[in-house]
Amino acid sequence: MYGLIHKAIQGCIQGAHGEEGWARVAARAGVNSSAFLSFESYPDEVTVGLLVAASEEFEQPLTELLQDFGRYWVLNTARVEYGPIFEFGGTNFVEFLDNLDAMHEQVALSFSNLQQPSFAVEKKADGRIILHYKSIREGLSDFVVGLLEGLSEHFKQPVEIELIEAKADGADHDVFELSLPA
Ligand code: HEM
Repeated sequence: MYGLIHKAIQGCIQGAHGEEGWARVAARAGVNSSAFLSFESYPDEVTVGLLVAASEEFEQPLTELLQDFGRYWVLNTARVEYGPIFEFGGTNFVEFLDNLDAMHEQVALSFSNLQQPSFAVEKKADGRIILHYKSIREGLSDFVVGLLEGLSEHFKQPVEIELIEAKADGADHDVFELSLPA
């Protein structure tokens, strides 16, 4: 993935465990602790390596760490460092979900090798939302849960999130059911 993702993982770990905690994770993952360039694309093994190293170093389950990173990405990276693109996504939670693909297409104008995820929204008559998440990658369901929690916090829109079909269990892609209490 592009370096901006790795820089955000670095920021997330530094925020929780300090500079010294990040140095330990970087050493364990075998990366230079200050060398990521936002606009350079790195093999996904680097991304996974950092997350696995942090999970081992701090004895924190990977699922929990991915959720923490998803919240961090929305609240501390996307809306702060990429404000204009973030605002392009919309002014409320549901509108933002509808625009996720268009938003990543904007991102792809600057990041030409972007392998972006795809999100499709189905709105049920009773107000529930079915969110289809497709990716060429594996193992990011909990990252998406954290991203949705971050968006929920940003838009002050409470949301209950349930993974109802999982790629990890053989489904074609992940499907989330979202309930938005009034
Ligand atoms: C300004 C805001 C955002 C920017 C600049 C951005 C940019 C990016 C970039 C650069 C990647 C890495 C893809 C690659 O290197 O091939 C990525 C991946 C991803 N983004 Fe965004 N993103 C933003 C907001 C969001 C939000 C709010 C969501 C919420 C659902 C989201 C969902 C994802 C997911 C799930 C991935 C993982 C890739 C995959 O599933 O294959 N992004 N994004």
